[in-house]
Amino acid sequence: MGLSDDLAAVVGERHVLTSQDVIDGYVTDWTRRYRGTAACVVVPGSAAEVAEVVRACARRAAPIVPQGGNTGMVGGSVPWQGGPASPDFADAAAVVLSTHRLRGLEPVDVVAGQVTAGAGVTIAELNAHVRPAGFSYGVDLASRDSATVGGTIATNAGGVHSVRYGYTRAQLLGTEAVLADGRIISHLAGLTADNAGYDLAGLLAGSEGTLGVITAARLRLWSAETALVAVLAGVDTIAAAAGLYAEIRGRTSRVQAAEYFEAAGVELVCRVAGLPLPLDREYPAYLLVEAAGADAADQLAELGKLADAAVAMDPAGRARLWAYRERHTEAISAEGIPHKLDVAVPMSKLGPFRAALATATRPYREIVFGHIGAGNVHVNVLGPDPDDERVDEAVLRLAAAHGGTVSAEHGIGRAKARWLHLSRSAEEIAAMRAVKSALDPAGLLNPGVLFCGAAG
Ligand code: FAD
Ligand code: MLT
Ligand code: ZN
Repeated sequence: MGLSDDLAAVVGERHVLTSQDVIDGYVTDWTRRYRGTAACVVVPGSAAEVAEVVRACARRAAPIVPQGGNTGMVGGSVPWQGGPASPDFADAAAVVLSTHRLRGLEPVDVVAGQVTAGAGVTIAELNAHVRPAGFSYGVDLASRDSATVGGTIATNAGGVHSVRYGYTRAQLLGTEAVLADGRIISHLAGLTADNAGYDLAGLLAGSEGTLGVITAARLRLWSAETALVAVLAGVDTIAAAAGLYAEIRGRTSRVQAAEYFEAAGVELVCRVAGLPLPLDREYPAYLLVEAAGADAADQLAELGKLADAAVAMDPAGRARLWAYRERHTEAISAEGIPHKLDVAVPMSKLGPFRAALATATRPYREIVFGHIGAGNVHVNVLGPDPDDERVDEAVLRLAAAHGGTVSAEHGIGRAKARWLHLSRSAEEIAAMRAVKSALDPAGLLNPGVLFCGAAG
């Protein structure tokens, strides 16, 4: 009897995947930069089964890598052992715990504006479920068809609406999760007035699978916007884009997206996706803003600076403008395996940071875009070998030198564990390690993620 037999006794044989071909899909991340191995993939169907799986793995000291849609960008969802970030992680013994079968969706509580969803429900499924009741979920992202409720909580995902509704943590009213010893902590009543002790759901948000396996969540919902206007404007610099966004925000109170991209990304998207240029002429950079409210279009029209801009109010027209932004990720991956460096700097530092980037990424090709409303810049570098981390280090240090963070929304994962100290003090990291060892003393939940080696 081996570990997979133990797991089969819990979830049934067909929910323990052991064929190498099948495992391969679960141990390679979305970017293809991080590839590991695993003993097997287990797909439990309930929180109780997750708890039994965790206990069975603990008995055999097998590391567990929780996985939702596997759309994460920092190697946290796969048992990747390579690189200096996780030298002591034995990936061959690891178990990938997929949440695909945790797909429960309770009826929408229309009075409270809340819903309870299983960890494996995708963001698109969640939105489709709540929309008929007049609601939308506050976090939206281009990976919506695969990214899950559990994965977005575990990464504290930001997304395109974060300027209006906040990150995933802000949507959480409670979670159900399985701890490293198999105990289930469940807090799904949905009380908004609830100050009884530590915010464990808030702690699990951004924990990247290192503190527990999230099995369900109680989520806040927002009234769905019916009148939306999207504006795509050409600008000369990232600083100009930030300035224009500030003006728009001053005019209309319900801005729900403020996105940035550049000529190099537009050229790539147009080529890969077969799209025409978005405006009459090319610009060095672009700002895409979406605002809600019947009067948003009028308020924006008064802005003379939007003279050369495309404006759309109908769903098809807005989707056409959004394609230039949302198709960046796939277009970049079609060109090669990118080094994806998701950083944020203070809005006032966007200009100097962008100017200094060219030196940090030389001699490689850089494609820069992001959620400018949050100061969040996605630096994508094409050219260096996947294992060559020099450009990663240069860009992350540059962000830190500009008062920024090494992770704006994707998390630390395995990819950035070496550089956590650029954004968190030794005291903060020690406190994080204390939480980790209190909840997972044997270090079996996603080892190699967040923390690097013994010293951090
Ligand atoms: P996975 O990739 O499977 O896992 C991510 C991390 O969470 C891993 O550490 C994993 O171990 C852990 N995890 C997963 N499920 C659980 C669980 N149930 N319990 C405990 N830990 C768990 N991210 C953004 O923040 N904003 C964006 O705008 C955005 N846009 C994207 C667009 C595209 C096209 C793509 C491919 C990705 C994008 N991402 C974005 C990144 C990614 O979609 C997010 O990080 C998302 O939150 C990952 O969800 P997932 O279900 O795929 O999680
Ligand atoms: C996005 O904003 O599109 C994502 O975070 C994905 C990426 O960085 O490629
Ligand atoms: Zn993003």
